[in-house]
Amino acid sequence: MSPVKPVVYVVYYSMYGHIQRMAHEVMKGLQSTGKVDAHLFQVKETLSDEVLGLMKAPAKASDVPVLHPKDMVNADAFLFGIPTRYGNQPAQVRAFWDQTGGLWAQGALRNKMAGMFFSTGSQHGGQETTAFTFLTTMAHHGMIYVPIGFGHKALSDNTEVVGGSAYGSGTVANGDGSRLPTEKELSIAEFQGSSFADVVAQFHNGKK
Ligand SMILES: Cc1cc2nc3c(=O)[nH]c(=O)nc-3n(C[C@H](O)[C@H](O)[C@H](O)COP(=O)(O)O)c2cc1C
Repeated sequence: MSPVKPVVYVVYYSMYGHIQRMAHEVMKGLQSTGKVDAHLFQVKETLSDEVLGLMKAPAKASDVPVLHPKDMVNADAFLFGIPTRYGNQPAQVRAFWDQTGGLWAQGALRNKMAGMFFSTGSQHGGQETTAFTFLTTMAHHGMIYVPIGFGHKALSDNTEVVGGSAYGSGTVANGDGSRLPTEKELSIAEFQGSSFADVVAQFHNGKK
């Protein structure tokens, strides 16, 4: 009988599509290993249609289900996609976590692995702080944070703007959202998915 693969949820919020694009690349990396059962989710929007219209936000992907926080118990590990807001998480992501008090009280997320990827408007707008400010949430839940270090050579490439850091893959969207994830950024995102799958599978198999 083939072993049960650990379940990985990729959970993102994306207002303008950059994180969504990165999430698909992370998924590709996870699936390429054949070691995990990967699923893609988004967090619930909390802004009204009127405000989203004023912000010129396109419609959300209709083929990506919204994850209810209580369903996090069904996964062994998570990769979270986060577009920065003032170097921190968007309110939509905070609203998601603010519903996890019950899970926290039960220790339901303890020892589940997690990593993150991010997007900023400008090069120095929060590529590292967005990840860093997310660590407290993971620590309080007792989750095991998995960074990517400098495992992908493009992270050390200074010939052009390359999003991402030791904390995870990333993209730089420009203030008006006109910059799309580059080949190098997408390659780092795929690398994050595949290396995360390796670590999660190793941990999962070691527990058995
Ligand atoms: C209210 C607000 C605050 C933002 N704060 C920052 C910021 O501190 N630094 C930055 O580089 N970009 C900032 N941005 C730009 C977003 O990070 C950018 O739109 C996002 O990364 C694009 O990802 P998405 O297409 O997945 O939504 C902000 C955007 C909004 C709407």
